[in-house]
Amino acid sequence: MQNIQDSSAFVICDDLYKIFKVAEIEVMALQGLDLTVRRGELVGVVGASGSGKTTLMNVLGGLTLPSAGRVIVDGKNLLKLSARELTTYRQIEVGFVWQQGSRNLVPYLSALDNIKLPMTLAGVAGAQADARARELMDKVDLPHRYDHRPIQLSGGEQQRVAIAVALANEPKLLLADEPTGELDSTTSDQVYDLLQRLNRDDGLTICIVSHDPTIAQHVERVVQIRDGKLASETVRRRPLADTRMHDGRGAGAEATESWQDHFEELIVLDSAGRLQIPKQLREDLGFENRVEMEVTADGVLIRPARNLEQTSSQAEIQIEREIRAEDNGAPAGLLARFRGRKT
Ligand SMILES: Nc1ncnc2c1ncn2[C@@H]1O[C@H](COP(=O)(O)OP(=O)(O)OP(=O)(O)O)[C@@H](O)[C@H]1O
Ligand SMILES: [Mg+2]
Repeated sequence: MQNIQDSSAFVICDDLYKIFKVAEIEVMALQGLDLTVRRGELVGVVGASGSGKTTLMNVLGGLTLPSAGRVIVDGKNLLKLSARELTTYRQIEVGFVWQQGSRNLVPYLSALDNIKLPMTLAGVAGAQADARARELMDKVDLPHRYDHRPIQLSGGEQQRVAIAVALANEPKLLLADEPTGELDSTTSDQVYDLLQRLNRDDGLTICIVSHDPTIAQHVERVVQIRDGKLASETVRRRPLADTRMHDGRGAGAEATESWQDHFEELIVLDSAGRLQIPKQLREDLGFENRVEMEVTADGVLIRPARNLEQTSSQAEIQIEREIRAEDNGAPAGLLARFRGRKT
């Protein structure tokens, strides 16, 4: 259970599950995902294809309801909102940018009219909507493209208009699902710079899903999803503003340092005490479905179970015996091993 009293926690996902059922086959897209995003944070979300990133974005955006768990955005429990409240949430409080330009923009409308569309749906029209749309076009550095239709814009320009559309109703949370997936690296950098500026200047909370291996360079924190759960986090050792100056492209004294030097990868320990050991590491170390844990001077050592000829069911019986012994007041088995007392 996460601490929902934490006033800086803007997004809280607590033990989220999402099960899709297609032709009697169930797919667990989210499997006990915990995530907290601070108000005004810029977070990157990475993970293999099918790991649940888009599902998470859809849940945060109120487009999909989770099968179990809690999702709270700006103090609102999305599972407790009425249908009408959820529609307002989607229209006003959250903005989306998708990978495909065609999903973000209506092809036969000008850039300005695309931005005005969500305002009209939210009941804002006329001069007020027009002024705001122009202001947003200026903000995304496209003051000379007001009347262009999507086909008359480059991919990067389309994504910048898409960001303006997402911001039309002044949302507090911006969700971008691979916004640079179809762009080259220079154009991607421009989109990232814009997102950083919106985060820094307007305090917008932003989650960016990406396959881009350099995403950490552009955000404050990267969370990695594996099999529908949070697996690891890459955090900055110093603030984004500092590293932006010294990322190897700037002229700072540390320009020779690689940007990777500014990051640290941490493994997530979830609210139930679970952590994920990457598949490659499990294979390299010969981990199967049982391991041994031992407390050492530096922490906990996890190693392959030595008694591997024991079948799974025998191992389960043994664990059950140990738990029963513990319930009866006799510290034994696993817990004793934790305390460094070999049985
Ligand atoms: N509407 C749906 N109906 C059935 N299964 C779905 C649906 N949406 C997603 N899934 C399944 O849930 C899992 C997670 O999908 P999701 O789209 O969240 O992955 P992703 O991390 O965004 O992948 P990618 O990087 O390819 O976009 C996948 O196995 C996918 O097939
Ligand atoms: Mg996806």
